[in-house]
Amino acid sequence: MEKDFKRRSDKMSARKVVRIRPGTKSIVLGVTGSIAAYKSAELASLLIKQGHQVFVVMTPEATEFITPLTLQTLSKNPVTTSFYDEKESWRPGHINLADRANLLLIAPATAHIIAELAHGLASHPLAAIALATRAPILLAPAMNGKMWSHPATVENVEKLKSRGVEFIGPEEGMLACGYEGLGRLWKVDDIAFRAEFLLARQENLIA
Ligand SMILES: Cc1cc2nc3c(=O)[nH]c(=O)nc-3n(C[C@H](O)[C@H](O)[C@H](O)COP(=O)(O)O)c2cc1C
Repeated sequence: MEKDFKRRSDKMSARKVVRIRPGTKSIVLGVTGSIAAYKSAELASLLIKQGHQVFVVMTPEATEFITPLTLQTLSKNPVTTSFYDEKESWRPGHINLADRANLLLIAPATAHIIAELAHGLASHPLAAIALATRAPILLAPAMNGKMWSHPATVENVEKLKSRGVEFIGPEEGMLACGYEGLGRLWKVDDIAFRAEFLLARQENLIA
């Protein structure tokens, strides 16, 4: 019995030593109007399983692709879709989320949100949070390959990268629009892993 207990506690302390997870963090998960929006449901679940608080913010277009109810249930938190959702606090909800976020992750990120972020627009909560937060920002683009390689998108991506915004993907493959090429959302497991990496890096747990 005592041996068993010792073995179990050794196991636990070994786990503690190798643990690079930064503990519970607040992730704002932005979802935009891409056909890949349904994959944000699995991403929200993974981030919750990784032990984080997830606050989903959807663009109005994203709600055409996946319901706020699905993401609210999986994230276990209310979903923001409008500036006027916040009814309980005197502080605007988007500013609360911007301040609270340890990471702003937008997956999938459309050509449109990338352009809005590059130009500092703020006509909906997700774009406003991107301006107001000082947390790291990770974008996982998904779009038609010609949209991705258009000089306007290339310039917007470069502009954002020069400001420290990080990108994961897109990857090559069959696209929902019928084309094959670069534009698919990166694998959600890898997106969740990169999110974890950025959170750990923020805490200087890894270089
Ligand atoms: C069926 C369908 C699929 C779409 N998929 C994408 C996509 O994967 N990526 C993208 O950039 N735009 C896509 N769009 C166009 C966006 O929905 C449109 O640009 C919209 O304004 C994006 O708004 P948001 O970025 O505010 O969510 C799609 C539109 C439709 C109707």
